[in-house]
Amino acid sequence: KRLILIGPPGSGKGTQSPMIKDEYCLCHLATGDMLRAAVAAKTPLGVKAKEAMDKGELVSDELVVGIIDEAMKKPSCRKGFVLDGFPRTVGQAQMLDEMLEKQGVKIDKVLDFAIDDVILEERITGRWIHAASGRSYHTKFAPPKVPGIDDVTEEPLIQRKDDTVAVLRSRLEAFHKQTKPVIDYYWKKGIVAKLHAEKSPKEVKDEVQKFRPNAH
Ligand code: AP5
Ligand code: ZN
Ligand code: ZN
Repeated sequence: KRLILIGPPGSGKGTQSPMIKDEYCLCHLATGDMLRAAVAAKTPLGVKAKEAMDKGELVSDELVVGIIDEAMKKPSCRKGFVLDGFPRTVGQAQMLDEMLEKQGVKIDKVLDFAIDDVILEERITGRWIHAASGRSYHTKFAPPKVPGIDDVTEEPLIQRKDDTVAVLRSRLEAFHKQTKPVIDYYWKKGIVAKLHAEKSPKEVKDEVQKFRPNAH
């Protein structure tokens, strides 16, 4: 199965995708996580991406398509994948279609994490992440066992530099202007499933499972 998760910042994509990945052994590609790793490592890609990310703007299609193209070559991504945070522009969606066409495969489902903007500020400002894995927690909605510490590795949690009220505003603007049209693009293909992303993590998980890919 090939799945795409689309939704605004804080809608729960990163929270649900490890579950999808673990349960169905799909390859999980999150462009935000890959870009943050590149920024932290100060690679040429990271240096180019940092300015846009800090401002809450989108990184150029060329850079992002390049990392996805590279990552999809992994053997584990041949049978299926879950894309979190990509594609985010109609241009990216078209480039992805071209890439998949060459392999003779198609996207099965696009999960639309539909949610009202007003809910997102509290989710974003309360988020703490484990940088190496991308695992996210929330001080109120999904607290770690020990405050400030990752449950799995016991390493310290950090807050993302773009998780401020001001940067959230431009991330939301980018979502509405550039990413909403991507949802329309897939609606026309008849493969979008709309989720109630404002519900609890457990309830959203149950909705996601209705679109379960066949485990292998
Ligand atoms: P990216 O990392 O993709 O960030 P984003 O899209 O803004 O999404 P978030 O990670 O903020 O939200 P999420 O839906 O994963 O929320 P989460 O599950 O963690 O991108 C970052 C930047 O990279 C972009 O701004 C851009 O610059 C660049 N970029 C990335 N991809 C790009 C692309 N394709 N093209 C161009 N540029 C790109 O949940 C949030 C919080 O809420 C957590 O604390 C969580 O615990 C909590 N929570 C989750 N679900 C629930 C629930 N149901 N109820 C209550 N709390 C919940
Ligand atoms: Zn995320
Ligand atoms: Zn709803």
